[in-house]
Amino acid sequence: MCGIVGYVGAENSADVLLDGLKRLEYRGYDSAGVAVHVGGNIQIRRAVGKLRNLEKSLRESPLVGGVGIGHTRWATHGRPTEVNAHPHIAGPVAVVHNGIIENHLALRKELVAKGCTISSDTDTELVAHLVHLEVDAGKDLESAVRATLERLEGAYAIAVLSEKEPGKIVVAKHSSPLVLGVGEGATYCASDIPALLPYTNEMIFLEDGEMAVLDETVRITDREGKTIEREAQRIDWSPVMAEKAGYKHFMLKEIFEQPRALEDTLRGRLDRENGDINSDEIGLTDEDAKAIKRVIFLACGTSNHAAMTGRYLVESLARVPTLLELASEFRGRDAVVGEGDLVVAVSQSGETLDTLIAAKEAKAKGAKVLSIANVIGSAIPRMADAVFYTHAGPEIGVASTKCFSTQCANILMFSIWLGRRRGTLDENRAKELVEGLARIPQLMGDVLQGTRQLCANLARRYVNARDVLFLGRGLSYPIALEGALKLKEISYIHAEGYAAGEMKHGPIALIDSSVPVIVLAPHDSSYERSLSNLQEAKAREAQVIAIATEGDEEAREVSHDMIEIPRVLEELTPFLTVVPCQLYSYYVADFKGTDVDQPRNLAKTVTVE
Ligand code: F6R
Repeated sequence: MCGIVGYVGAENSADVLLDGLKRLEYRGYDSAGVAVHVGGNIQIRRAVGKLRNLEKSLRESPLVGGVGIGHTRWATHGRPTEVNAHPHIAGPVAVVHNGIIENHLALRKELVAKGCTISSDTDTELVAHLVHLEVDAGKDLESAVRATLERLEGAYAIAVLSEKEPGKIVVAKHSSPLVLGVGEGATYCASDIPALLPYTNEMIFLEDGEMAVLDETVRITDREGKTIEREAQRIDWSPVMAEKAGYKHFMLKEIFEQPRALEDTLRGRLDRENGDINSDEIGLTDEDAKAIKRVIFLACGTSNHAAMTGRYLVESLARVPTLLELASEFRGRDAVVGEGDLVVAVSQSGETLDTLIAAKEAKAKGAKVLSIANVIGSAIPRMADAVFYTHAGPEIGVASTKCFSTQCANILMFSIWLGRRRGTLDENRAKELVEGLARIPQLMGDVLQGTRQLCANLARRYVNARDVLFLGRGLSYPIALEGALKLKEISYIHAEGYAAGEMKHGPIALIDSSVPVIVLAPHDSSYERSLSNLQEAKAREAQVIAIATEGDEEAREVSHDMIEIPRVLEELTPFLTVVPCQLYSYYVADFKGTDVDQPRNLAKTVTVE
């Protein structure tokens, strides 16, 4: 997730671009840049880190001109360095881009073979070169961009300038957002409404497959160049509402962003035809996969719960002995680890000190380290032998939600990849899993819409509960832990996540009529036993909430309330069962009036002992 902005008008464009980028910083903040037409040339300024660094560079060395494009980056390809920051230039062409180009490896090869010098690690620079080649072949900018789009697979919103056509910006969209603004003698584009609100309320939403040319006016076309007539709409949001896309809190926005975050994370990685995972970027070879004797997951907090799904999945799909360790307990205890071990360090921030130190210790003893991280170029990916990034975009709410589900996606993809290479997962079964995973974003969207109101009602009913129990078995056990963690983090209610089979070994003593017990009982291999847990809890007069498969009358009978999720393969249930847990926790906290996005005593990145 990155933010792009563009301006054509009489003001100094660098000021408008910087101001717009400030309002898009929530979409990414590891580097930023602008390109402006100055005289007959395009000039760029780029800077690593927060926008204030770009601002400083523009103060020291201003760009004066009325047409420009800008970008704030959340890295997906290549580390957050100045060279990788947008805009990217090729000949007379400058490009900013939000999204992920899936076929970037093939395009890079092709462009290098044609003699292009590619200076960054980004997929975006390839777009700039493609447009440049088309311009060199004699096309005008609009046609050159149109021809380039034919070559791109994946998601993009792009804005393109050319020195040869100084008064205009050409934009295009597929799967990534882009809104156009129509002002008094000025036109704009941006990834999101907030960037444009101070300048105009008249906005046009570009649809997938459409392009537009911005000069004094906005002209929208389809891919064939046919003009599309579309009236501007009046948007009367306040800037604060706009930043959270109309949601009350970032956490709720991020819960609802999960289908999009998963789509971005799965994009280009699922090989549906062969029932496999495209793993070029992971950097582990088939030989590496075969040589692994043991997998050890290391993580903290929510990432540890995602890692726990890996313990089940790697064992069942790849048949490799698998351990799960809290990084804080692994480090410093001189664990038995070494050659033949693959340590999978899972961390949203990639900076959690305990996970970093634990992974370094394992590496020093001869283990290979695979990092699953969301922040490109952060410390753990940098020290790891191989990296498999999630593409959730920046997570602002301290309580992790969309990063958890994208971590689960990467862990499942890794398990499938490993199973295929070790011959423990046959093609048909792998195809089923890959197909099922491809449908998850859509199903997750359905669960979000379908369960939101019930979760809010239940949260209202139990807002004053002193204790809450979450129970689950197998792949629902990590989700029970995650549900309890979410609730305690943001509502400060005491919540326990338990392996349902352990209930009778202790926690059952906690149960009375004041305790809500949330039992995760999807149709899976533990279903019958989960049903018994529902019965046991109800018999002790607990307030029983089942999260179960739609139409499950047995579960409904033995619970007070049932939250329904669609039937999916067992391996995919975590993506759906976690949604009501997140929503329930969110609404309890909201009704209690706690600081949902910045709960007390917690920090987003824990880089301390
Ligand atoms: C919970 C939460 C924390 C983090 C933990 C690890 O909502 O956000 O428990 O999961 O601090 O952080 P990362 O994943 O950055 O290593």
